Amino acid sequence: MSAVAEQTQVESRLLADRINALEESSTLAMTKMARELAAKGHRVISLSVGEPDFKTPAQICEAAKKAIDDGFHGYSPVAGYPDLRKAIADKLQRDNNIDWKPENIVVSTGAKHSLANVIQVLVNPGDEVIIFAPYWVSYSEMVKLAEGKSVIIDGAFENDFKVTAAQLEAAITPRTKIVMYASPNNPTGAVYSEKELREIAAVLEKHEDVYILADEIYEYINFTDEGHFSIGSIPALKDRVITVNGVAKGFAMTGWRIGFTAAAKWISDGVEKLQGQVTSGTNSIAQKAATAAFNGPMEPSIEMAKAYQRRRDLVIGLLKEIPGFKVNVPQGAFYAFPDVSYYFGKSDGTTVISNSDDFSNWLLNNSYVSTVAGSGFGAPNCIRISTAAADEALVEAVQRIKDAVATLK
Ligand SMILES: Cc1ncc(COP(=O)(O)O)c(C=O)c1O
Repeated sequence: MSAVAEQTQVESRLLADRINALEESSTLAMTKMARELAAKGHRVISLSVGEPDFKTPAQICEAAKKAIDDGFHGYSPVAGYPDLRKAIADKLQRDNNIDWKPENIVVSTGAKHSLANVIQVLVNPGDEVIIFAPYWVSYSEMVKLAEGKSVIIDGAFENDFKVTAAQLEAAITPRTKIVMYASPNNPTGAVYSEKELREIAAVLEKHEDVYILADEIYEYINFTDEGHFSIGSIPALKDRVITVNGVAKGFAMTGWRIGFTAAAKWISDGVEKLQGQVTSGTNSIAQKAATAAFNGPMEPSIEMAKAYQRRRDLVIGLLKEIPGFKVNVPQGAFYAFPDVSYYFGKSDGTTVISNSDDFSNWLLNNSYVSTVAGSGFGAPNCIRISTAAADEALVEAVQRIKDAVATLK
């Protein structure tokens, strides 16, 4: 064993078991590899990151500048400034038909933090958390950190990657604590309709000890005629639904790090208690920017969503022309998620592609297009391609993919 490998082994023995057990985020890992290749001078097209390619709207930036000038430099309340919690309560009323008071809202450092908080607050060791797959990479790792057990239910490709109420019913056990899902979904772009969510709600109504963690971070990037539906608006479930959302995707504010939970007071109090010991209130300037986002005009978000829809049409159209790719039509978010399993077992003469990790790595190293393997999302036949990039880059990336796979026999 090399000296470096030996040192790494010693260091990992020193790390806590919970960290050794944790997977590295596959999206961040791919993005890092793409950056390294770009630094070596390769013309990498990076489609691995889950990030809008737009700038934060000007009026939101102005609010942040004003917050600096107005002296919001100190610690903020643990659960967030009152005006932001009020803006979020108003937004939930206006957009989601969810009636919570500001005291039911806790502001956190991104929706990722909000989700992790809720899982820490509700899950005891051995509790089961049902996750609708394909799922966002961090869900199962958050459950692992809380010593819970992830129970994955697969949404079938034929059902647009969505889980049915009957599948959910079959997966619930006396140990089920939480059911969690995202709609619109990362990585598939699937959107659960009101009808589908009401069917799921009908199952959950019968299980009074089960909580529902609804991740609505892509709410404003929804291409359906019906629009977004929040399961938290169903009165019979209201007290058991924790709605998580934030500003990252809809307002192009990934770096500002603002997310929130909206939940029954005892759950919000638990989240506040945890946050009070671990992070305190989140960044004061970003909170003022988020207040301006939720209280401000929605036109910039609507325009961005139109651009994502146009690019969705462009990319899906091109991907459908690649032999062997099976492609669903995403109804929201900004990803394509083709099934590439047709190429498993094929080779370019040097490398054999055995799974989606091989496929994604091979693409990066051969055509300099970074994507993310579906394995980390619980969908090992697929790869995720972000469509949050300029049209020319998307067209060139898909052409490079098409040319690359043509060499696989
Ligand atoms: C489904 C889903 N939930 C939550 C998040 C986290 O959002 P934030 O940047 O607000 O932490 C992401 C980010 O990629 C996501 O895709």
